[in-house]
Amino acid sequence: MTKIGIIGGSGLYEIEGFEFIEELSVSTEYGQPSDSYRYFKYGNLELYFLNRHGRNHSYPPHLVNYRANIDGFFQIGVKGIFSFTATGGINNSYRPGDIIIPDNGIDFTNGRMHTYFEENNVHHIDFTEPFCPDLRRIMFESAERANVPVCRTGTYLCTNGPRLETAAEIRAFDRMGADLVGMTLFPECSLAREKEICYTNISVITNFAAGTSPQKLTSDEVVAEMQKAGDKLKRLMRNLPASYTDERTCGCVTALQGTKISK
Ligand code: HPA
Repeated sequence: MTKIGIIGGSGLYEIEGFEFIEELSVSTEYGQPSDSYRYFKYGNLELYFLNRHGRNHSYPPHLVNYRANIDGFFQIGVKGIFSFTATGGINNSYRPGDIIIPDNGIDFTNGRMHTYFEENNVHHIDFTEPFCPDLRRIMFESAERANVPVCRTGTYLCTNGPRLETAAEIRAFDRMGADLVGMTLFPECSLAREKEICYTNISVITNFAAGTSPQKLTSDEVVAEMQKAGDKLKRLMRNLPASYTDERTCGCVTALQGTKISK
């Protein structure tokens, strides 16, 4: 059996054919993860779902305990994580409801506990490609089988939140090369790499980014658009087993080789 992790909202749990096994509470030396991990079986997969923001959406993006969440997956033995996020579209070809599988990211967060490495254990991990190429390919194949259109490129810029952006920030992010903006990709993706867990992101465009839409941006709009995308996201997951295999040729599994600099 292959253990994979899914990070997203509660809307993703009830998937036809997924057999619920149990809820696992995991404690970590970094504190408590956002929620318990809900374990399901489906085909050759063991899937562990984690609600990033907690059961009642209690944790804002800057207060999510990303280190505990990723360490919990690590303790369970998860080898790959699919992360689902809501994002604003900067690229003017994107429309609300579009699904983007980004191929790179920019970290604009601050003050988050963003690494497992501390004094006397200093590593500098390579992060040229923040997403696992194998997991991306698996998701593309799943999208093809599910007949769900996805965009295979895009740069996700992660802000600290919880406020949304100013129009000038979005203009600046656009010039920097960002295509979509959200608040939760970092440090989730880099912590997974520090644990040598494969990780990729699937983003739903829930709104036009600030200043590119005439309306005020609301959380209601984001939630409604995520709900609308629910069926497509579930179809992506239902089609995973056919192409999922544990045999990785990616660099994620050996991410820590040669990266330690402290003696
Ligand atoms: N900006 C930042 N985060 C978001 C947005 C946005 O426009 N939409 C959904 N999450």
